[in-house]
Amino acid sequence: MKKIRVKLKKNSYDIVFAKGGLSRVGKRIRPLVKGKNAMIVTDDNVARLYLDTLRRSLEKQGFNVFEKVVASGEQSKTAETYLEIIDALGRAEFLRDDTVVALGGGVVGDMAGFAAATYMRGINLVQVPTSLLAMIDSSIGGKVGVDLIYGKNLLGAFYQPKLVFVDVATLKTLPEREWQNGLGEGLKYAILEGGRLFDIVNGETVNEDLEEFVSLCAAYKAKIVEQDEREAGPRRLLNLGHTLGHAIEKKSGFEIPHGEAVKYGLKLVLQASKRLEGADADDLNRALDMLAKYGADCPYGANELLSLARNDKKAEDEGINAVFVKKIGECFVKKTDFEEFNRLFD
Ligand SMILES: NC(=O)c1ccc[n+]([C@@H]2O[C@H](COP(=O)([O-])OP(=O)(O)OC[C@H]3O[C@@H](n4cnc5c(N)ncnc54)[C@H](O)[C@@H]3O)[C@@H](O)[C@H]2O)c1
Repeated sequence: MKKIRVKLKKNSYDIVFAKGGLSRVGKRIRPLVKGKNAMIVTDDNVARLYLDTLRRSLEKQGFNVFEKVVASGEQSKTAETYLEIIDALGRAEFLRDDTVVALGGGVVGDMAGFAAATYMRGINLVQVPTSLLAMIDSSIGGKVGVDLIYGKNLLGAFYQPKLVFVDVATLKTLPEREWQNGLGEGLKYAILEGGRLFDIVNGETVNEDLEEFVSLCAAYKAKIVEQDEREAGPRRLLNLGHTLGHAIEKKSGFEIPHGEAVKYGLKLVLQASKRLEGADADDLNRALDMLAKYGADCPYGANELLSLARNDKKAEDEGINAVFVKKIGECFVKKTDFEEFNRLFD
């Protein structure tokens, strides 16, 4: 069983990788929390597949187990559903030492996490991510929250879990579209980190080396979170491919899913990076060749996306903080004014 320690100033925690180990989650949680009650929050798709196994695992450790099943999809990630979870916790008389267990993708993780962060000013939270995106991204780093009609993730908090438990065997049932969504982020980590992670994606052995791939991505995110818990500096690197990625999503009327848009955004940013001084052209070409294996042919030219990128909320008044690539494994944030941004991407 592989373990990554996320070392923070306060509230450090482990990410545990146990392929096929979902029935052993309870055993891992028991020593970490005092309370007897556990509320599993999940969505209807994931409930059908994995709720019983998780419930039994917690019951075996003496937990009184409660369940809150929400409808699947981003449209559930609302203040209303969040209040339903809070209501369920109140009704079951949860106390400070009790535990919320988020079983599912990023929607459930973010929303259940926000409920755990705010009920009684914070109770125990355990993340059991079941989508690729949740395993390598959303379950790590403590960003929790829900959407408002004015925008995504507007109501939220930073709140660290007591444990993240990853069973990559659950990915067997993940729909292809959702797999692709997570993979876009995985390709991003490969360019940020280089090394073995790049070799896995470049060699197209993600499926064979699945647990290693997931754990290397998670380790990269954990490393960045350790350096920058509140997103003031290095965490911005995680936006690699996202400035134009968001523009691509918007341009397509959200027909192109996030992960795919990130993949296209990565291609455009690699091309733009070649124009910067000090860029390692051979390495950037290697990264572009790697992306080509995953079909990163953006349907739009960069020039069609620039005005949308300029309107992105991450574009501040005086320019855009975009992430560029010097070589595989070395990326940097560069503030570009709009003129330079246009020149680099045009
Ligand atoms: N907190 C963060 O740092 C952070 C980072 C990135 C994204 N996010 C958030 O994550 C959310 C997206 O997460 P997501 O892509 O996991 O979406 P999701 O939670 O909607 O899950 C995607 C779909 O896959 C299904 N699913 C999940 N695991 C499954 C499995 N093992 N087998 C079968 N079906 C399964 C779900 O029911 C859902 O229909 C967004 O709301 C986004 O804002 C948060």
